[in-house]
Amino acid sequence: MLPESLKKLFKEAFGTQPICDEIDNGICMFKRDDLIVIKQNGKVVAQFEDNESDYGVILHYYAKKAGLITPQEREVEEILRSLFVNIIVLTEVEDKNGFSHSQRVAKMAEEFAKYLGWDENEVKDIVNHAFLHDVGKIAIEQLMLYSPTRLRTLESHYEDHPTMGTIYLSINESLWKYIPTVRYHHEKWDGTGFPDKLKGEEIPYYARIIAILDYYDEVTNFVSADWDSEIKTPQQALKEIKYLAGRFFDPELVEKFARFMRDVHNVE
Ligand SMILES: [Fe+2]
Ligand SMILES: [Fe+2]
Repeated sequence: MLPESLKKLFKEAFGTQPICDEIDNGICMFKRDDLIVIKQNGKVVAQFEDNESDYGVILHYYAKKAGLITPQEREVEEILRSLFVNIIVLTEVEDKNGFSHSQRVAKMAEEFAKYLGWDENEVKDIVNHAFLHDVGKIAIEQLMLYSPTRLRTLESHYEDHPTMGTIYLSINESLWKYIPTVRYHHEKWDGTGFPDKLKGEEIPYYARIIAILDYYDEVTNFVSADWDSEIKTPQQALKEIKYLAGRFFDPELVEKFARFMRDVHNVE
């Protein structure tokens, strides 16, 4: 018989009861000799001595390893994420429709993911990544506040925002999953980007997607045009992105993006 306290902690950590009649399909926990054993889909994932004071730490550790998060952790993630998103959106300049750069990138990410046939959770996930991609710019805004030459400071620190974003997101483990997108959305396919000069498929997939959407939004919107003093039409921006396939951007993704622009936005 398993102790009740252990069963309760298991439910808290894994978000489910340990169901042992289906040991080859799901997660279950049982006692073997003096050890507590956890099996996931028929494989032993944890084995530890039956010591009540260690239950919490051990179960939490293995739940993490199994890629599970508790409802409490999900709540913390939601609170922290929306706090950051609110600060980003409030500090960005709005366009004539009242939207800011991160909002527009998030909207486009949603449309693109739906176009690619992603499921509801995947769509939600990339929207969150898109909303957070420039979280490090909050730090740049802070630098600007204390600088007598505000604009020059922004320009000279622009390349720091992926690193600053990484630092912001490191404050809580629930936000770590966004770090690859935040840190690498300015890397380029040919390895000439920043901050770590990653190349090709070394660049995480979401970061490669956001890189295209980010560029498109920057060059087509005057209020956030860091790239060029001249604002581009959607057609010009798409042409530029196609030209930069294999240099800045993942060529396969550029193809998908071009199809999406043609089919959804009527832009060729
Ligand atoms: Fe950025
Ligand atoms: Fe951006």
